[in-house]
Amino acid sequence: MANDTLTVTDNRTGKTYEIPITDGAVRSMDFRQMKTSEDDFGLLCYDPAFTNTASCRSAITYIDGDAGILRYRGYPIEQLAERSNYLETAYLIVKGELPDQKHMDTWEHNITMHTMLHENLKKFIDGFQYDAHPMSIVVGTVAALSAFYPGAKHIHDVASRRVQIRRLIGKMPTLAAAAYRHRFGLPYVQPDNDLSYCGNFLSMLFKMTELKYKPNPVFERALNILFILHADHEQNCSANAIRAVGSSNVDPYSATAAAAAALYGPLHGGANEAAVRMLTEIGSVDKIPAFIKKVKAGEGRLMGFGHRVYRNYDPRARIIKDVAYEVFEETGKNPLIDVAVELERIALQDDYFVARKLYPNVDFYSGLIYQAMKFPVSMFPVLFAIPRTSGWLAQWCENVLDSEQKIARPRQIYTGADTRDYVPIEDRPEPLTVERRLLDERESGLEPSV
Ligand code: CMC
Repeated sequence: MANDTLTVTDNRTGKTYEIPITDGAVRSMDFRQMKTSEDDFGLLCYDPAFTNTASCRSAITYIDGDAGILRYRGYPIEQLAERSNYLETAYLIVKGELPDQKHMDTWEHNITMHTMLHENLKKFIDGFQYDAHPMSIVVGTVAALSAFYPGAKHIHDVASRRVQIRRLIGKMPTLAAAAYRHRFGLPYVQPDNDLSYCGNFLSMLFKMTELKYKPNPVFERALNILFILHADHEQNCSANAIRAVGSSNVDPYSATAAAAAALYGPLHGGANEAAVRMLTEIGSVDKIPAFIKKVKAGEGRLMGFGHRVYRNYDPRARIIKDVAYEVFEETGKNPLIDVAVELERIALQDDYFVARKLYPNVDFYSGLIYQAMKFPVSMFPVLFAIPRTSGWLAQWCENVLDSEQKIARPRQIYTGADTRDYVPIEDRPEPLTVERRLLDERESGLEPSV
């Protein structure tokens, strides 16, 4: 369409440019032609944290943040949560379509055949301190898998990609369970291939002396739903990490470890842990107003609230809230749910949160379910990482196969010193003390640098 262009006049030169608009986007590279002189580098687009930059084309997950819509490959999250199971959803995310029965059976078989860990990997896990955060163990061990499967570096070989994907989806619950048991000095439990993906995970976590572990069907179903809801979420911090790191053509284990590290942070997958710690700290309903006051004064955040993309209720939070009550039927109510519900009610009526369109996100209620199921708080980000592996790998594959992609390498706006000559150490002036520097910065109105 002729009108699908943007006309830009560069007021520095008076020149006018016509920039094509495709799929509601302009290409940053089209701005490079805008120069003030022959040797000018050309105009850059500055977008810290990519708040308005699409880094790829993707056919995996669709989010309409204003309407609170989330779909995987076109299927609404609500339908998948109600009718699918995690492995089927993982197939959908990785391969693009729901499987027929034959393909589903093969997929399930192939994943199940990859659930065991190399014995040396267990020794590797043994090397961690007993009180190591399980997410640190998972990040380190996933990275170590690249040393166990060196063939994974053939990322342009479709057969290799397929086997690494099965291996990673298959081994994540085993690694996660081993990280959990290591903390308590319990022996690692071998995978039980008769059980479902989530049932086997529960077995590897909680099996004690019984010969055959029988997973609680309510917990198994709740985990399936939680895993489905966490499977992908388009270009979030960890998806961006796997794409950026994977763009160097490194093997998928190293790239997945980078994604898991990104997920670990409290602003991303660590938020479920932070939310429960916050609710525990608040402790009771009567302490909520004081807590909200502190948040509004900029002293901390309401964890499990707010989202870069959703400016409406996160559809995952709605489903999780319902699942929470189903699990509590089995476990007894987690007393923190009353604090959470009241906190949500107050926040959703408060001008501060309303004006900023801050709603509960996926992490607000999920931790309460995990806690009721007797997971230690430190396991929560790990429980996010297991299902997100299918999303990461789908994002990674899409990136590998996208002919427009290259090694991810943003530009910068340099703000440092101009060229200066090296001074031998004995001729350098006495450095300022930290106290003096802070004082100078305060006097000149600068942000403290240390
Ligand atoms: N509590 C209090 N104020 C908040 C919160 C919050 N949870 N989130 C955002 N704000 C305020 C923020 O202070 C800012 O206010 P102002 O305009 O006065 O400076 C405004 O809302 C916009 O915030 P922002 O930081 O620019 O928003 P963002 O899109 O960069 O951040 C976020 C998104 C998820 C990092 C942020 O909302 C947050 O830190 N939430 C708490 C952590 C959390 O729950 N993270 C899980 C996200 S969902 C799961 C996942 O994808 O990992």
